[in-house]
Amino acid sequence: MVKCNMSLVVIPFLLHILWFLMFPHTIQSQGNAFSRQPTSQFIFTPHSLSDSDPEQVHISLVGKDHMRVSWITEEKDTESIVEYGTKEGEYSKKSIGDHTSYNYFLYKSGKIHHVVIGPLNPNTTYFYRCGGSGPEFSLKTPPSKLPIDFVVVGDLGQTEWTKSTLKHIDSKDYDVFLLPGDLSYADSHQPFWDSYGRLVEPYASRRPWMVTEGNHEIETIPIIQPHAFKSYNARWIMPYNESGSTSNLYYSFEVASSHIIMLGSYTDFDAQSKQYKWLQYDLLNIDRNITPWVIVLLHAPWYNTNEAHQGEGESMRQAMEELLYEARVDMVFAGHVHAYERFTQIYDNKHDSCGPLYITIGDGGNREGLALKFKQPQSPLSMYRESSFGHGRLRIVNETHAHWSWHRNNDADAFVADNVWMNSLSNSKECWETLKQQVSHGEL
Ligand SMILES: *[C@@H]1O[C@H](CO)[C@@H](O)[C@H](O)[C@H]1NC(C)=O
Ligand SMILES: *[C@@H]1O[C@H](CO)[C@@H](O)[C@H](O)[C@H]1NC(C)=O
Ligand SMILES: *[C@@H]1O[C@H](CO)[C@@H](O)[C@H](O)[C@H]1NC(C)=O
Ligand SMILES: [Fe+2]
Repeated sequence: MVKCNMSLVVIPFLLHILWFLMFPHTIQSQGNAFSRQPTSQFIFTPHSLSDSDPEQVHISLVGKDHMRVSWITEEKDTESIVEYGTKEGEYSKKSIGDHTSYNYFLYKSGKIHHVVIGPLNPNTTYFYRCGGSGPEFSLKTPPSKLPIDFVVVGDLGQTEWTKSTLKHIDSKDYDVFLLPGDLSYADSHQPFWDSYGRLVEPYASRRPWMVTEGNHEIETIPIIQPHAFKSYNARWIMPYNESGSTSNLYYSFEVASSHIIMLGSYTDFDAQSKQYKWLQYDLLNIDRNITPWVIVLLHAPWYNTNEAHQGEGESMRQAMEELLYEARVDMVFAGHVHAYERFTQIYDNKHDSCGPLYITIGDGGNREGLALKFKQPQSPLSMYRESSFGHGRLRIVNETHAHWSWHRNNDADAFVADNVWMNSLSNSKECWETLKQQVSHGEL
């Protein structure tokens, strides 16, 4: 039974017209510097349950052994409660949380519930139910020890391509999903956020989805909607408070020997900013004996040889690159550019075996299409680049070794188009020695 609400269709349409009348320049917001493959069909995933049933269920990690369960109900008198346990249909524990909602122009969101459950055992399947009734969901907690498998994919959207990417991801198990920005491409049409929540629920209700924001999450309209990230911050709460951050736009978390930092490309990042100071504090507090792997995600890439979005991450790179370099961060993932590109280890535009390895993975399946043109000749810093949809997997094998692979969608499930082994910088005596010298010589 498809819920048929005319306002869902008509209001976004009117808003769209209004938008382009007010801001005609946004029609070609990506510019003409590069061509893209024809855009794929946008999918609207309708609401097919009753108004009191939980929908758009997704989970995210909170601290060492807790998980936040988030969902939405159309009906307002539903409870923010999660019952859970390790046996199907038997819920030995329950947690009560809170809820929020927001208005966006004429749109009113449903009741958005957030409930933190735990403590949970690592590497364990739990069965859970939201709101005291409705369908049962299950989740698996990540392991507390290595190995651990991350899936990484940005610019996901909600198209046929997105479906294909999610299907490929689902064909092989993993522990944690990492998304470096641009989720729904709702672009101010709020019902598309709900549609996105329904599309990803079968995946995001089973494994933690840890996300950071992209430009498509900003959603400001001058005068009418001055507050940025209204929908994103209401729907996708991440564990920022637990990591000492005061903003949902940047945070960190630790899981199985890895310290993961989610940065915000669309909030202040200069040396006086709160984000910068938080990043300094966060990096200083990493214990490489406990988390030898340090991984950063952000939206607008600092290194990019595609014609698309050239230079957009440059001011953030200039502000923050030195912090990451001094901390001997292992890898930096970005999205935004709708293609795949793997770089060598870099610091300040030069190969540096003590710098992070950079990867752009903005090829999830958004409706804008692929960024097809790369700059020629290929920079020696760029090791592999391709404009195809796909996803990445990072398997951290042990304290010293990790394996990265990029899986292209338009091949059989098992096809790995690019892959590389990495050594953790925590283990490199040379890099820590070099750092001491650089600091004592005043070079950093
Ligand atoms: C997680 O559990 C599975 C199955 O119970 C087991 O095979 C695997 O080794 C465990 N992983 C870790 C890291 O403990
Ligand atoms: C935020 O974190 C602090 C310190 O960890 C904690 O005392 C406080 O209860 C947290 N607040 C919320 C709303 O979770
Ligand atoms: C870590 O994994 C790599 C790759 O499988 C292996 O060669 C190496 O011996 C492992 N190191 C330890 C300490 O187990
Ligand atoms: Fe983007």
